[in-house]
Amino acid sequence: MLGKSGVMAAPRYGLLPRATTLADAAEQLLEQGCTRLMNDRLPAYFPNLIRDYVTLLEDPEHHVLRIDHPRELHADGEPDLGLREVLRGERKKNPRSDEIKEGRLYYDESKAVFHYNQRAMGYYAPQQELVSRHGEFFRDLAMLQGECMLLGYELAHHLDEKLPGFRFEKRMTESEHLMRLRLLHYLCDGNKPNIAQRHRDQNFLTIQVRSDAPGLWLADKRQSIIADTEETRHDSVLIFWGRKAWEITQGRVEGALHGVNDTRFNGPGARTPRHTIVAFLHASVSPEESAWALEHMEELAIPSEISNYGLQTLA
Ligand SMILES: [Fe+2]
Repeated sequence: MLGKSGVMAAPRYGLLPRATTLADAAEQLLEQGCTRLMNDRLPAYFPNLIRDYVTLLEDPEHHVLRIDHPRELHADGEPDLGLREVLRGERKKNPRSDEIKEGRLYYDESKAVFHYNQRAMGYYAPQQELVSRHGEFFRDLAMLQGECMLLGYELAHHLDEKLPGFRFEKRMTESEHLMRLRLLHYLCDGNKPNIAQRHRDQNFLTIQVRSDAPGLWLADKRQSIIADTEETRHDSVLIFWGRKAWEITQGRVEGALHGVNDTRFNGPGARTPRHTIVAFLHASVSPEESAWALEHMEELAIPSEISNYGLQTLA
């Protein structure tokens, strides 16, 4: 982001105006790369789901949810279903290319990540006893997934109207089986403000349902930083493009750069766990579009001025 003088301009910070309709949200997505949509249905699932997730993690049998996934249950290197618990200092099994490049091969934090896709629940048939014991948790997950998908389809419908020719809604139906929810339970067990380094998501659209602590930052299309406590709100959700949107539109829209900087991890005082629920929506990409993406990969380089912003840097 160079100013008129060629000098790097300081990033601007701001809140996203809240979109009250899906048409406005689609407009905001196309203009800024991210949107904050008024919605109190999805965040309403958060308190009970996180309470039940913590209860599940305390269940002595919870490890049975760490299933080995058949390849067909993977998309973009991530499984559709299953629990993964990692400890601070543990070596990453499948580091992303940017992590390899930057030498980030070990986990800096302890966390429990749970991926859920209702369509993959058949793989938990042998774990039925545990699943039944936590029935409310799995029921709420199924309902939240359904609501996230519905919202995604409706939004894609408006995106199709505003940017015709890419068949966003149709592509979502074609890769519906890849949609997944991610529940995160982070333990603040050491200095680690950057829970997630700057990155773009691999999917089509990401819905940040809710977190119970601030720290998420997003760079919009003009590389302005949008970060505050938006992700903790009970009356709206954040939605932003992932890399597949860039592939489908051949660069018309870009995946939104983002990261998580939770400054509470710096202090030994209030180290309470951090929780987040995110929904990853997918869309089909043709082989030609994938080939285009490979050729244009360097255009997706992360601008050097987009660093790992945190709340302490906000005006
Ligand atoms: Fe992300």
